[in-house]
Amino acid sequence: MKRVGFVGWRGMVGSVLMDRMRAEGDFAHIPEAVFFTTSQVGEAGPDVGQGARPLQDATSLDALRDMDLILTCQGGDYTKSVYPVLRASGWDGYWIDAASALRMDPNATVILDPVNRALIDRALEQGKRDFIGGNCTVSLMLMALGGLFRAGLVEWVSAMTYQAASGAGAKNMRELLAQMGVLHEVVMPLLQDPGAAILEIDRRVTEVMHGNGFPVENFGVPLAGSLIPWIDTQLPNGQSREEWKGMAETNKILGSEGDAIPVDGLCVRVGAMRCHSQALTIKLTRDCSIAAIEETIAAANDWVRVIPNDRERTIQSLSPAAVTGTLLIPVGRLRKMNLGERYLSAFTVGDQLLWGAAEPLRRMLRILSE
Ligand code: HSE
Repeated sequence: MKRVGFVGWRGMVGSVLMDRMRAEGDFAHIPEAVFFTTSQVGEAGPDVGQGARPLQDATSLDALRDMDLILTCQGGDYTKSVYPVLRASGWDGYWIDAASALRMDPNATVILDPVNRALIDRALEQGKRDFIGGNCTVSLMLMALGGLFRAGLVEWVSAMTYQAASGAGAKNMRELLAQMGVLHEVVMPLLQDPGAAILEIDRRVTEVMHGNGFPVENFGVPLAGSLIPWIDTQLPNGQSREEWKGMAETNKILGSEGDAIPVDGLCVRVGAMRCHSQALTIKLTRDCSIAAIEETIAAANDWVRVIPNDRERTIQSLSPAAVTGTLLIPVGRLRKMNLGERYLSAFTVGDQLLWGAAEPLRRMLRILSE
């Protein structure tokens, strides 16, 4: 594989990908990295150790057709407009994509190699060319519980999520902080007065949150000081699209569509920056000790960490604040529930921009460049 084209490398996920590729020395494995743009054709591209060359036009079929592999973080609209035309023109390079547009296509493989490397290898042997990053929540859940799935211990899972602002986009992260700032500003004088009544502080916060000037252009409603129990679009069956992805993508990643493991739950946006958390109820296929469950979870990959079900260890290690910016996947709150011996609770946190988005793409590119 000689020429690799990067599209959408300057956005939030693309920037995280570039940082990780630099950190891992990935560009040394790519003979020619070509950077595309939708708006600044001809301007100098980044120097990734091969000299800075002019940016190419991301809408030019001729330029794209020259690539042996295209990796895009540009988003679903770009994929929908460019991919079909490119393939129809006979281009048979590898396509690695962060967007969901192609995920459920029968020819597409959803990539999460620490969990489904065998499926990826089989797809490569079959000559498949489309490798798509999974939904962040699903990828993070599988990085956490991959060991239990692999051991055949999961009868079903209910995932109740606590999803960060980053999943909605960079503008939403800014809006969350803007909302926090407005709320703080309005009560700052009262906070400085230890004698001020907390209910008066709360009244002012609520008033400004409901007021016309509160910044809600992106979320539509307040997130700071609140939450939003709906992520993505509404489906006729009452699920949100994010909830629908839980079962569809889990089973596609595991290659178990023929005998699908039920996955369902509620997806909720909370005021975290870039780490998604999930509270999981798992029905086990058979009774199994907590010690054996912990061992199975911990052995699944190099990033998962079992956090003992202890208050202090949990609050220190099992939170978005502890995990943000790292590749660690802590799993804790592991205990049998009052529901019965085969009902396991778990809580997990993961960085939505790393394992939830950029890292599986980076690793797929590396698999193809070696
Ligand atoms: N859909 C996810 C979210 C992010 O809104 O948090 C992308 O997988």
